[in-house]
Amino acid sequence: MSFNIAIDGPAGAGKSTIAKRAAKELSFIYVDTGAMYRAITLGLMRRGTDIEDVQALERSLAEIEVTIDYRDGAQQVYLNGENVSGSIRTEEVSARTSACAAKPQVRAKLTDLQRELARKENVLMDGRDIGTAILPDAQLKIYLTASVQTRAQRRYKELIERGESCSLEAIEKDIEERDYRDMHRETAPLKQAEDAVLVDSSDMTIEEVTARIVELARERIGSGCGA
Ligand code: DC
Repeated sequence: MSFNIAIDGPAGAGKSTIAKRAAKELSFIYVDTGAMYRAITLGLMRRGTDIEDVQALERSLAEIEVTIDYRDGAQQVYLNGENVSGSIRTEEVSARTSACAAKPQVRAKLTDLQRELARKENVLMDGRDIGTAILPDAQLKIYLTASVQTRAQRRYKELIERGESCSLEAIEKDIEERDYRDMHRETAPLKQAEDAVLVDSSDMTIEEVTARIVELARERIGSGCGA
């Protein structure tokens, strides 16, 4: 039986950086489910699909195939065979993914793929609904969060380092809006699973959060919870 770790939480809490590091230390496979939602969104954008038109959405989804594999340990995501791991990281895709991910038809398309990966391998999967909807039996669930201000400042720093101009207020507003949409959608909203361990990274370094997760995982593995 595989050992599954679910990490959920809002955008900017450090999930992917920390999940990648923790997975490496534990020799688990890291599954970034946000990348899958982004790839579907890119497919819908390229087709010019009006996602509010259910029939058009279903027609497009039937023609979109998302798959993943790993290159040097890093997850690659493919849209109908094309590696889109870079193209899904634009601001436009980020902004649109939240609305696409709210559509039940979009979520249904990824559920089986995510569960199948977790069934076969020891995975550390990050997303928004992993502990609540996708892997309700995960042996360890973490809800990783941080204050809006901390998350906005981290994002601001990243953009400035990349040489992009931006305003801290605009980033804060964007984060608040995205949180609201992800937490209030009807299908699989972002929320802490009852049995998830809450980790607030506002005043913690990446190393501290990673160490905490690895420690929790080792405790559970040691206590004979699967693996
Ligand atoms: O983690 P991320 O920023 O790459 O996620 C992109 C978007 O996808 C974000 O708006 C939330 C959504 N998402 C989701 O609804 N469910 C998941 N399991 C993962 C991401």
